[in-house]
Amino acid sequence: MTYENILVETRGNVGLITLNRPKALNALSAGLVKDLGAALDVFEGDANIRCVVLTGSEKAFAAGADIKEMVGFDYMDAYLKNFITDGWERVTTFRKPVIAAVAGFALGGGCELAMMCDFILAADTAKFGQPEINLGTIPGAGGTQRLTRYVGKSKAMEMVLTGRQIDAAESERAGLVSRIVPAADLVEEAIKTAQKIADLSLPIVMLAKEAVNRAFETTLAEGIRFERHTFHSTFAIEDRKEGMTAFIEKRKAAFKHR
Ligand code: CAA
Repeated sequence: MTYENILVETRGNVGLITLNRPKALNALSAGLVKDLGAALDVFEGDANIRCVVLTGSEKAFAAGADIKEMVGFDYMDAYLKNFITDGWERVTTFRKPVIAAVAGFALGGGCELAMMCDFILAADTAKFGQPEINLGTIPGAGGTQRLTRYVGKSKAMEMVLTGRQIDAAESERAGLVSRIVPAADLVEEAIKTAQKIADLSLPIVMLAKEAVNRAFETTLAEGIRFERHTFHSTFAIEDRKEGMTAFIEKRKAAFKHR
């Protein structure tokens, strides 16, 4: 399949999607978001792909929704098109892990897209921000909700109300990113991390992802109950038996993803 706005490769059992609208700093146009959704559909259906890395360029992961595309919208355009819903939310329904590898600007919808991923690896050049307030609007792809859950109210409120960008070090201190790597190593490090996940049992990894995500959608007691049931259900999966047996037999587990 060929795409106009992204590059798609596979590295072993890892799918790599590179946002590729360099002239617009990967602004998230309708075409780009459609391509992204289509590529994720293909990876979701490909049993050989067990983790995905989503990245941009050295200068920008993505500089936000495409301002030139939406400048002329009125309320009816935005509402009737359900703007920033279709395609945009495909990352959040993708069941295998997705790692965002962010170098340069991740602003507005770019920051929101990174936050939809399961975790963010940041290059030391990364800059995160929700500058929509400067455009006379507010974040529309989950920024007010997800950023607040990642970094807490005070920093999220300051970022959303002032548009202040935070650098890689501040984003790591705030818990927005899992860790920082040198920019030159970002994509390879993300692929290495993804391959580590891809070497594990896919159904177990999917259950673990679902359980962590439940923490953001429920009470602690419900979340713990969900985790306990999910943990119990791993005993119905062949790979659970293989994992524990391999440990006892002091050998590497040979997971069958079943
Ligand atoms: N939409 C459309 N085009 C964009 C864009 C965007 N979000 N961001 C950058 N571009 C375009 C610029 O218009 C410019 O195109 P031209 O060469 O045709 O003029 C090109 O990309 C390069 O950008 P700059 O010349 O501005 O590059 P810079 O290095 O001077 O600045 C920047 C980089 C600070 C990221 C600056 O481009 C910028 O502020 N971009 C907008 C960031 C923003 O406001 N994002 C939020 C968008 S709204 C949103 O995302 C809503 C939501 O919640 C989903």
